[in-house]
Amino acid sequence: MTPKIAVRGLYKHYGRGARRTLALQHVDLDIAASEFVTLVGASGCGKSTLLRTICGLEEYGQGSIVCNGRDVDGPGADRAMVFQSYSLYPWLTVKDNIRFCRRLKHHAAATSSDVEIASGRADALIGLMGLAHVAHAYPAELSGGMQQRVAIARALMARPDVLLMDEPFGALDAQTREVMHDLIRHVHHLEKTTIVFVTHDVEEAIYLGERVVVMAPRPGRIDSIVDVPFGAKRHQDLKLAPEFSALKRQILNRIRETSGVKTDLEQLEKLTRTT
Ligand SMILES: Nc1ncnc2c1ncn2[C@@H]1O[C@H](COP(=O)(O)OP(=O)(O)OP(=O)(O)O)[C@@H](O)[C@H]1O
Ligand SMILES: [Mg+2]
Repeated sequence: MTPKIAVRGLYKHYGRGARRTLALQHVDLDIAASEFVTLVGASGCGKSTLLRTICGLEEYGQGSIVCNGRDVDGPGADRAMVFQSYSLYPWLTVKDNIRFCRRLKHHAAATSSDVEIASGRADALIGLMGLAHVAHAYPAELSGGMQQRVAIARALMARPDVLLMDEPFGALDAQTREVMHDLIRHVHHLEKTTIVFVTHDVEEAIYLGERVVVMAPRPGRIDSIVDVPFGAKRHQDLKLAPEFSALKRQILNRIRETSGVKTDLEQLEKLTRTT
């Protein structure tokens, strides 16, 4: 089956001369349609770079990225990105933030029936995200979790084939994150969007992903890809299962080994030495 996203032999550098950094070295990754893939790895291993390159926000050197059978050479309406910071328009209400997505703005000559359809889709997403009671509020009046739900709804508005998420729940408290985890899995189930999700949190990566891509730093590359054997129906209690803990330990160990530290204590010493 043709993958939804095919990354082949991808290299990405930043800077020149002595400041040249090899951010991605020979990355090969196929992602199937409707798959939920998570990316983890030590800080600086190129997770955001890989995501931004797939989004078309970064140029790359060698290699190729094909999405939906087309070479990626810039951003496109088939790919939407959600960042850690909410980046909503502060002067628009929740509903208008969701409704006036990029695609509609680009089609200034949208007919009234286009606007009506958009409004219907916005209402459906507002319902799905549990935002009905704040549909007419402004972003500053919302909690972080609510703002991120608006950002996700806005990203989904144009029915992108691919949703790219860079630590989208990184700024939320633990309880809100759990709610968001179940919500994003529900959205994935309903919308069948292909999701590529970057996180520092191995537990989050396993709970959400069907496959976890473990990346390694200096140079940034894929170290290994782990299949998550817990099926489609997941519940928070899964995190307490011994199989879940064992997988978490396996991935954490791999991240430590690839970043050159073997224990939490070594990690702490390394951090305190450099600060
Ligand atoms: N705009 C940039 N200019 C120069 N170097 C960059 C730029 N963005 C990233 N890098 C470098 O590329 C490498 C990969 O960075 P990237 O942000 O992709 O890592 P990451 O895995 O997302 O890290 P984190 O977990 O801390 O977010 C790092 O060495 C970083 O310093
Ligand atoms: Mg990053």
